[in-house]
Amino acid sequence: MTKPVRKAIFPVGGLGTRFLPATKSMPKEMLPVVDKPLIQYAVDEAHEAGIEQLIFVTGRGKTAIEDHFDHAYELQDMLSGRNKLAALELVKETIPTPGQLAFIRQQEPLGLGHAVWCARHLVGDEPVAVLLADDLILSPRGCLRQMIDAHGEVGGNMVAMMEVAAEETASYGVVAPGQSTGRLVEVRGLIEKPKPADAPSNLAVIGRYIIQPPVFTDLGRMERGAGNEIQLTDALARQVGAAPFNGYRFEGKRFDCGNKVGFLEANIAYAMARTDMAPEVQSIINGFAKG
Ligand code: UTP
Repeated sequence: MTKPVRKAIFPVGGLGTRFLPATKSMPKEMLPVVDKPLIQYAVDEAHEAGIEQLIFVTGRGKTAIEDHFDHAYELQDMLSGRNKLAALELVKETIPTPGQLAFIRQQEPLGLGHAVWCARHLVGDEPVAVLLADDLILSPRGCLRQMIDAHGEVGGNMVAMMEVAAEETASYGVVAPGQSTGRLVEVRGLIEKPKPADAPSNLAVIGRYIIQPPVFTDLGRMERGAGNEIQLTDALARQVGAAPFNGYRFEGKRFDCGNKVGFLEANIAYAMARTDMAPEVQSIINGFAKG
C-alpha cells in the first residue's frame, strides 16, 4: 500500500540573486504577492493538502522566515490594544500548531538537490512533498492537494508538470513522456535544462514534487549536474524504472516568482482575483493600455 504523504520540505536556502538588491537582507521567499509572502502561500497549500509536518531548509539571512511563523507579541498586543481585530486575526493565522515546523540549515547553497538531502533525517522512511515557494500556482484546488490525491492511486515519485514554449526548455527539468492517463503522464526520463534541440518534449517540471526515500540515498552521492549544482531532477531521473514515476499536469496557472516579470504578473493576477482590489487594479491596467 502507498504510504500517505504527511511531511513537506520547503527549500529556502537559495541566494535569490535575480532579486538583488531586494534580497540582500531579506529572503526571496518573503517577497509579498499582494499582501502575503511567497512562503506563506506554499505553507497554506501544504496545509490544504493535509500535510502535518513542515520542514524548512534555510540558509544564512533567512531568520525572517522563522519569525514570520512565530508569535509577534508586541505587534499582537498593540493590535489588540487598538482594537484592530481583523489585522490581529491575520497575524495569528500565520502561526502553525506548536511542533509542526522544523528548521534545518543548508550551510552552503550547493543546489536544490543538496537542500532536499539536508532534510533526510527528519523525513525518514516515507514519501515527502517538496514545494518551491517561488513557483506560485493559482487554482481552485491547491496543486499539492491535486497531486496527493493522484499519488494515493499510483504511489512512487511524482512531479508537477506543465507545457512550456519549445525555446524555454533550457530553464527547466524536461520530461521524456510515456503513456498518459488523465492528468498523469508516465515519466520515462528527465533531463535538467536541455537546449531546445536536445529536449525530449516541452513538458517541464515545476516546483512541486513527491519523492520516495531512495531519492535521498541517490542525492547522498553528491553528484553535480547543470550549473555544477546538486540537482533534484538528476536524482529523480536515476529512479526511472525503479519505482512508478509520473508527471502530473496540474489544474491552475503557475507564476514563476523567481524572476521579476513572473513576480509582477503574479501580483497583478492575485490582485485581480480579489474582489476588494480588482476594479481599481483593472482601471490602472486600462490606463497603461491607453498609453
Ligand atoms: P533557484 O534556482 O531559484 O535559485 O532555486 P535561487 O538561489 O533561489 O535564486 P537565483 O537564481 O539566485 O535568483 C530554486 C529553489 O531552490 C532553493 C531556493 O531557495 C528556491 O526555493 N535552493 C536553491 C535551495 O534551497 N538551496 C540551494 O542551494 C539552491
